[in-house]
Amino acid sequence: MKRIILIGYMGAGKTTVGRQLALNMGVQFYDLDWYIEMRYHTRVADIFAEKGEAGFREIERNMLHEVAEFENVVLSCGGGTPCFFDNMDYMNSLAETVYLKATPEVLAQHLRMGKVERPLIKGKSDEELLTFIRESLEKREPFYNQAKHIIDVSLLDNYDKIAISVDLLKETLGL
Ligand code: S3P
Repeated sequence: MKRIILIGYMGAGKTTVGRQLALNMGVQFYDLDWYIEMRYHTRVADIFAEKGEAGFREIERNMLHEVAEFENVVLSCGGGTPCFFDNMDYMNSLAETVYLKATPEVLAQHLRMGKVERPLIKGKSDEELLTFIRESLEKREPFYNQAKHIIDVSLLDNYDKIAISVDLLKETLGL
């Protein structure tokens, strides 16, 4: 394997599952948001605040091209990464892409528990969050569905389930 890229909505568990998969396989793990923060010495939320979403998407694309060059890695990208520019085609051209799929209800539950500050959903009530997820997931799924593999992670809410998801991923990828 050269590269595995995990895609999917915010809160699907891309980072958690990706990190475990990389550990399990003994390869390097990268998270695109973390990589951006490291390269720019600033938080994603601050990039959104300073440059707007369009500015963030430019940076995200450039950093995707940088990190996607690495070999023998697992990379988890941001929820929006596959939906801008030709990012999805680009990722498919050089990696095994996997869509971690979950229902809006599960995503909302994970996001309410999450501690990471996510600019796109900041300040939303539970009801607003669910509506926002439903609407944006509908727009994003045509991109996510272009992944070479799709795995349902709706049941991922404890460590056993993370392990199960990792096993499922390995099986799906024939590893
Ligand atoms: C975003 C998802 C975030 C981050 C940014 C925008 C999105 O990543 O890139 O806040 O557009 O869905 P996670 O999916 O890792 O939360």
